[in-house]
Amino acid sequence: MQTFATIKKEVISTRKALRVFDLIRNEMTLVEDEFKRQAASNIQAVDYLGEYLRSSGGKRMRPALLVLANYACGGNAASENVIRMATVMEMLHTATLVHDDIIDNAAKRRGRESVNARFGNHTAVLMGDWLYMSAFETALKERSLEILDVLTKLTRKMTEGELIQLTVIGNTEITEDAYFDILRRKTAYLFSGCCEIGAILANADAEMQAAFRDFGMNLGVAFQLADDLLDFTADESALGKPSGADLLEGKLTLPLIVLCRRRPELKQFLKEIIADGSYRNGSRGEVMRRLNENGILEEIRSVALGFADTARKNLEVLPQTEYSLALEEIPNLVIDRSS
Ligand code: IPE
Ligand code: IPE
Ligand code: MG
Ligand code: MG
Repeated sequence: MQTFATIKKEVISTRKALRVFDLIRNEMTLVEDEFKRQAASNIQAVDYLGEYLRSSGGKRMRPALLVLANYACGGNAASENVIRMATVMEMLHTATLVHDDIIDNAAKRRGRESVNARFGNHTAVLMGDWLYMSAFETALKERSLEILDVLTKLTRKMTEGELIQLTVIGNTEITEDAYFDILRRKTAYLFSGCCEIGAILANADAEMQAAFRDFGMNLGVAFQLADDLLDFTADESALGKPSGADLLEGKLTLPLIVLCRRRPELKQFLKEIIADGSYRNGSRGEVMRRLNENGILEEIRSVALGFADTARKNLEVLPQTEYSLALEEIPNLVIDRSS
């Protein structure tokens, strides 16, 4: 049940999020138009799938970060090439989601059937590949080896993250270090790349670029920690994807890793849920009860807030502008989001 305090917190963070997005509303509209162009193809099947993915929405966090980082470094983010690169980041993100849903056998994404559920795995693999390659093709227009360096590295890291994750599926012995290693690779490098490329496109100096790289990394960790918490606390209608799915997919995220460390006798119980692939006999409620009685969800939220704090500190080198202030809001916003 939601308490007055949590509702109040949500209202405040929704207002702040609206303010941040208002600041770049025009640029985000340009990103949307560019996404339409980049996802279009004269191959009918590709065009159809591109539109299916684009029109299902999403928070557009990654392009928003690139745009804000660019403005905060004194760039003009409404210019053609910045909008193009912001869109490339959303295309890359979309590609990872398409592949991730095959791997996780997920039926739903952004409130719709996932591509794999609707069109099958074969189509989804190829569409993911197409999105990756189209994104790289567009990025090449920048003629910047520096940017390509960032992009190829982060794409490799994301793939490594998903691969390493596969090696620990169903494993209740996974360590916190292994968890954070996976999380950085599969999520945080992309956030870091968005911020860094925003800075590079504004011709920021090396110190500033590093600040944005670090900011994005810490923000990305906070973001994935929040995603893993939402899997326990949010429902499907808010998330647009099923909740409670991580454990059924055999993924032990930080809350359950901590629970296993504290209460090793529960490992067998969790293994049974994974083996069943469904929550039977109220086992979902039981997992929640165990997490709550050990205060673990609040504890992990504090861990996420710690990363948010570090992220904000990374930006201390920035001159204060409305954009730097907006960026400072984002780490807490991603933790207090409801979807
Ligand atoms: C989902 O990312 C994948 C994770 C890294 C957890 P988002 O939550 O940003 O997904 P969309 O783009 O808003 O759908
Ligand atoms: C993040 O992991 C996925 C990517 C970085 C592609 P998850 O598997 O937790 O993402 P969701 O929950 O399916 O969006
Ligand atoms: Mg997934
Ligand atoms: Mg998730």
